[in-house]
Amino acid sequence: MFPKALLTRKRRRPEVAFVGGREEVKFRDVRLFLVERRMGKSRRNFLSNLARSKGFCVDDALSADVTHVVSEGNAAQELWSWLEEQGFRETHDKHVLHISWFTESMSAGRPVSVEIRHYIQNPAVDQRSCAHPSAKPESAVSPYACQRRTTLDNHNKIFTDALEVLAENLELCGNQGPSLAFRRAASMLKSLPAALRRLEETQHLPCLGEHSRAIIEEISECGSSSRVEEILNDERYRTMKFSQGNSSHIFFRQCKSLVCHSISYSSALVAGFLFYEDISKPVSRTEASALKIIVEEAVICVNPSATVSITGGFRRGKEFGHDVDFIIKTPEAGQEDVILPAVIKRFKSQNILLYSDLQESTFDLRKLPTHCFEAMDHFSKCFLIIKLKREQETDARAGKDWRAVRVDLVAPPLERFTYALLGWTGSTLFLRDLRRFARLERGKLLDNHALYDKATNTFLPAKTEEDIFAHLGLEYIEPWQRNA
Ligand code: CTP
Ligand code: MN
Ligand code: MN
Repeated sequence: MFPKALLTRKRRRPEVAFVGGREEVKFRDVRLFLVERRMGKSRRNFLSNLARSKGFCVDDALSADVTHVVSEGNAAQELWSWLEEQGFRETHDKHVLHISWFTESMSAGRPVSVEIRHYIQNPAVDQRSCAHPSAKPESAVSPYACQRRTTLDNHNKIFTDALEVLAENLELCGNQGPSLAFRRAASMLKSLPAALRRLEETQHLPCLGEHSRAIIEEISECGSSSRVEEILNDERYRTMKFSQGNSSHIFFRQCKSLVCHSISYSSALVAGFLFYEDISKPVSRTEASALKIIVEEAVICVNPSATVSITGGFRRGKEFGHDVDFIIKTPEAGQEDVILPAVIKRFKSQNILLYSDLQESTFDLRKLPTHCFEAMDHFSKCFLIIKLKREQETDARAGKDWRAVRVDLVAPPLERFTYALLGWTGSTLFLRDLRRFARLERGKLLDNHALYDKATNTFLPAKTEEDIFAHLGLEYIEPWQRNA
């Protein structure tokens, strides 16, 4: 039945793994060079071929394109004088690393992100003046929020609260630039492992301009800042904060623009005012969990293979939020466009939908990469107000056994999921800095849709958030460490 040749053919020898170095390059942003000194020629050959077989690009010579120099057994001093003789210069994307980084990468099958412990520091470089991470003392604070671990454990609340009032006040007056400076200062202070005790401690900290420094100085001397007190007592600030600085202002603005378009939406505005009291109250983690069950039940009923994850502030471990954010994963292509209308329909039939605004997908793969970063993403999403049953009837008004909660749902296409999850997890400032870092330090464009490498004109694939951090050469920051 089978051709004889097939049956009698000798079993093929397994291919000799490390032959010619013609293997496919998988990691285009990484170019290795292994230092032969101390490692020895044959071990170097073996390791080079091993790396090539795993899709790494390994150069035999220390060319200008090399990004990762790997050394084994060399003293830092000797290694660095040799590297400098070769004309090798440290820049933000050239690393000189211990063999440990190499072996970890080989076992991971991909370049693992470079951590401080991997670096072989150049002893000749002044540690304070150099921007390169290898030359930083371990305690140095990065000016980028995406290189700091910011938990909810804020040891400098007395300063950050004040700086955030200043930021908010400027924002309400339309001064976005100066406002961001105060936000960055507050965010940096939130990442510190302990409270500032003396003003001198701020000397080597980044993100502090003279205005922020002056506020810190005043608070550490007098216990409060006169400017902040002034703002807090200012009628204008209070009014503006109430009318548009409130957490639900986006919703109101939306309603207003909708009302302009069609009279039928006036009910939305009425709804907004009706539920104003409820939606301006923070949502607790318990309420978020209860909503997750409701959303999950609806999603699975519509599409049993879809899954729901919580994102936004609650994924970062916050106990309270102004809304609850969910991201929906649909394994079949095209489902992301139909799932939200179906879920909304179901909420409506359950009589728990108080308001909904569905934004259909405008996502177009051909339009990537986008160059306007602060813009919203193009995924199918909806802004809802949902009726959530209360555990006990706490509301004094007769018979109201529910509260209104703002809920955001987003449904990206499956191959965009990881980027969308990262973007929707926030915090806003963390993501802003992650994008800025990608662009300025790595020549890459990151948004909620993709990560794009400008040097190679390629999109970088990511199955997990870890992959995105690794592509950017960043240590992985867990969601609860992204409260920048
Ligand atoms: N986001 C986004 N695209 C949108 C809406 C939101 O990328 N169209 C991101 C925001 O930038 C933020 C995250 O989704 O990083 C969550 O947004 P939001 O709910 O406004 O903020 P939270 O961090 O969840 O804060 P809170 O706890 O107050 O809800
Ligand atoms: Mn949120
Ligand atoms: Mn939200």
